[in-house]
Amino acid sequence: MQSNKLVCFILLVVVAATVTYASPLSHTSRSSSNDTIAAELEKMKNFTTLLTLANIANLTSTLEDPSLAVTLFAPTNAGISSTLKAVNISESAVVKNSTLVKMILEYHIVPQPLKTSNFSALNSFKTLEGSNVTVTKNSTGVFVNGFEIIKKNIKADKSIIQVIDGLLIPPGIVV
Ligand SMILES: *[C@@H]1O[C@H](CO)[C@@H](O)[C@H](O)[C@H]1NC(C)=O
Ligand SMILES: *[C@@H]1O[C@H](CO)[C@@H](O)[C@H](O)[C@H]1NC(C)=O
Ligand SMILES: *[C@@H]1O[C@H](CO)[C@@H](O)[C@H](O)[C@H]1NC(C)=O
Ligand SMILES: *[C@@H]1O[C@H](CO)[C@@H](O)[C@H](O)[C@H]1NC(C)=O
Ligand SMILES: *[C@@H]1O[C@H](CO)[C@@H](O)[C@H](O)[C@H]1NC(C)=O
Ligand SMILES: *[C@@H]1O[C@H](CO)[C@@H](O)[C@H](O)[C@H]1NC(C)=O
Ligand SMILES: *[C@@H]1O[C@H](CO)[C@@H](O)[C@H](O)[C@H]1NC(C)=O
Ligand SMILES: *[C@@H]1O[C@H](CO)[C@@H](O)[C@H](O)[C@H]1NC(C)=O
Repeated sequence: MQSNKLVCFILLVVVAATVTYASPLSHTSRSSSNDTIAAELEKMKNFTTLLTLANIANLTSTLEDPSLAVTLFAPTNAGISSTLKAVNISESAVVKNSTLVKMILEYHIVPQPLKTSNFSALNSFKTLEGSNVTVTKNSTGVFVNGFEIIKKNIKADKSIIQVIDGLLIPPGIVV
């Protein structure tokens, strides 16, 4: 009798522990799923400005394409607004010019999937826009044109998302 109760108690503890651990585990597997770039950005919540800009540039269907195999340096909402503030450009001025938005976004895309393990101390990659981005790696972290990659190697089908905390402005752009 006593030992049956003990077995029941142990089972309850095991079940409770499993339930407790189930939520972080299922969260992890959800965030490492293999979806399109657009779907991954929507799940992460912090990329509504980027998704709006992609719409303006007619790049949404590209980011929804499961066969796309690129690296997207994805700026967060906060990163985009802080860079625009730093260079004294209003977001409303940018969104009025869809050609400009397209150039800026294509400067965030390298046409091959790159993990942080692909980067050495100093690298240059040609973007879809035509100009190169500079990626540096040191003991602090990995940086794209000086902006740190704050979330690394997010798989999105055949592509990789590297989250950065600033907007990359192509050289020679006049706003
Ligand atoms: C959005 O980004 C900020 C700063 O990087 C972070 O503190 C916050 O947790 C993020 N929110 C979501 C929903 O990812
Ligand atoms: C930012 O631009 C506005 C409008 O062009 C101008 O009035 C303002 O002085 C500028 N601020 C800085 C810090 O350059
Ligand atoms: C996006 O598509 C619209 C409608 O077809 C067009 O007017 C606009 O010029 C396009 N923008 C770019 C940046 O290609
Ligand atoms: C839009 O931006 C592009 C790239 O900077 C520039 O060449 C073009 O003149 C701009 N168009 C307008 C209407 O300002
Ligand atoms: C990136 O690293 C992976 C694994 O080491 C390798 O297979 C791939 O060819 C590398 N990509 C580039 C562009 O160097
Ligand atoms: C741009 O990057 C490519 C490698 O992706 C390199 O071959 C080329 O020399 C770079 N161009 C400049 C101007 O740095
Ligand atoms: C690594 O590079 C970043 C960006 O250039 C820089 O801010 C940081 O100080 C560097 N860290 C070290 C340890 O050199
Ligand atoms: C993710 O999906 C892509 C294409 O949809 C496929 O090539 C790749 O093998 C998948 N990766 C994983 C880990 O499932």
